[in-house]
Amino acid sequence: MIKLLVLFIATMASLSSTTVIAADGKALYVSRDCISCHGVEGRGKTDKGHPRLSCQQEKYLITQMQDISKGIRKAGQGKSKCGLSKASHGDFDALADYLSKVRPCL
Ligand code: HEC
Repeated sequence: MIKLLVLFIATMASLSSTTVIAADGKALYVSRDCISCHGVEGRGKTDKGHPRLSCQQEKYLITQMQDISKGIRKAGQGKSKCGLSKASHGDFDALADYLSKVRPCL
């Protein structure tokens, strides 16, 4: 019985930690206003040149965010400058985790 209880608690702990990461990414996506350019759930607004972010590889998203924030990749020059300056480097992992897992991929 005790073994079962320990197993149950361990399972709950691992489940909730995964959920927290995903929830943080979603909250960041909204609070950092990525949504105004990249759309609901990162679906993009390609008519405005704002790329889809959802369903892309997590590693790819992190690399792009790092490159854009460092100015290595010039994204959205002019009117639609990518708002990554509002996100800190610590946010990139959570944002990429959320965006790579958000479903459905329409
Ligand atoms: C003012 C509009 C705007 C806002 C706000 C904005 N972006 Fe962007 N973003 C762009 C544009 C424009 C591009 C690049 C288009 C290009 O390079 O062709 C881009 C590119 C990207 C890319 C690379 C996508 C790819 O397919 O290579 C990522 C990742 C990204 N943005 C993440 C974010 C995140 C996360 C936020 C919120 C912190 C954010 N952006 C806020 C306009 C915006």
